[in-house]
Amino acid sequence: MLVREGLATVEVDGVFYNPRMKFCRDLDVILFRAMPGRSYLDALSASGIRGIRAKLEAGKEPTFNDINPEAVRVIRENLKRNGITAEVWREDANVVMRKKHFDHVDVDPFGSPAAFIDSMCFSAKKSISVTATDTAALCGSAVNSCLRKYSCFVEKVEFYNEVGLRVLAGKIACEATKYDKAPVFVASWAKEHYYRVHAVVRRSPRLAAKVYENVGYLVYCRNCLWRKPVSIKESVPSVCERCSGKLSVYGPLWTGKLKDNEVLTRACRKCEDERALQYLSKLLEEEDCPFYYELHEVCRRLGTSPPGVNAVVERLREMGYRASRTILSGTGVRCNADIGVIERVLKDFE
Ligand SMILES: C[S@@+](CC[C@H](N)C(=O)[O-])C[C@H]1O[C@@H](n2cnc3c(N)ncnc32)[C@H](O)[C@@H]1O
Ligand SMILES: [Zn+2]
Repeated sequence: MLVREGLATVEVDGVFYNPRMKFCRDLDVILFRAMPGRSYLDALSASGIRGIRAKLEAGKEPTFNDINPEAVRVIRENLKRNGITAEVWREDANVVMRKKHFDHVDVDPFGSPAAFIDSMCFSAKKSISVTATDTAALCGSAVNSCLRKYSCFVEKVEFYNEVGLRVLAGKIACEATKYDKAPVFVASWAKEHYYRVHAVVRRSPRLAAKVYENVGYLVYCRNCLWRKPVSIKESVPSVCERCSGKLSVYGPLWTGKLKDNEVLTRACRKCEDERALQYLSKLLEEEDCPFYYELHEVCRRLGTSPPGVNAVVERLREMGYRASRTILSGTGVRCNADIGVIERVLKDFE
């Protein structure tokens, strides 16, 4: 079957191709135009659609790889079909990433990317992109999987997709520092069945050491929903300062920024795709405050009915707080106010 996606036309018979990831690839190519680096490794290519679109729509110079010989045959045909000349490897992705450095490395595996993150950080000179579909492990539903894959302890909370993104980002950040590299996350999102993270990488021992200022723990009170990120260098409280309940401690995970507004602004400026622009603009407008409030959960506990999300954001801004919606949940609010303020605002709407 021939598939058209962006500027590419690819054959997908005999290889993995997920049409539901089209929007992800649409966002990717727009971001790639604003991310540094020309040489680009599509480390787990399948049909080659990502690398082909990276070349045709973002001007990258791709190298392709897939361990499956049938995929390699299909990629070669797809390159011819799209008028592209490029190297195609048939190796374990980890072998390619150890053998050669690329400006930009993209890891898009089945399930967990955990086994590829170390080599990806070794190989990448300027940019990295990662997909994860092991969402149960990342978001706290599969506690032991998260421990095994990400060396991180998390359980499910109501803002679980943010926790998942921060577990993945934390793993990337910690693996990168071994090679004196520091990621600056450009864009991160959780959608449907997958998580996607893009980062620019800087090589500097000084910046790599500073990464740990943004690695830490989420302390969270299941009794009153109070939460706080705590740096790995600080002492971790065990009792809730609001209700004296016992705190849950999750991590280590990334507590820093999950996006970079400068790169996002540049990406949006060059974007002619309406739907993608709308999504990236929402991400751009989002406040950076870690751990959004899930209004439905707060209201359920208060026994009140949830007001409109925009009205809550507006009220919080009027009160002088930084507040915004979040792309991670239609009923989520990011704010630098604590849960006590959020509750008061919600009660006022009654
Ligand atoms: C999820 S698919 C990639 C999808 C593709 N990037 C896209 O956007 O459509 C994962 C691919 O990785 C290949 N693969 C699995 N394990 C691999 C490994 N260790 N090294 C290289 N390729 C591998 C599979 O054959 C499969 O084609
Ligand atoms: Zn509490």
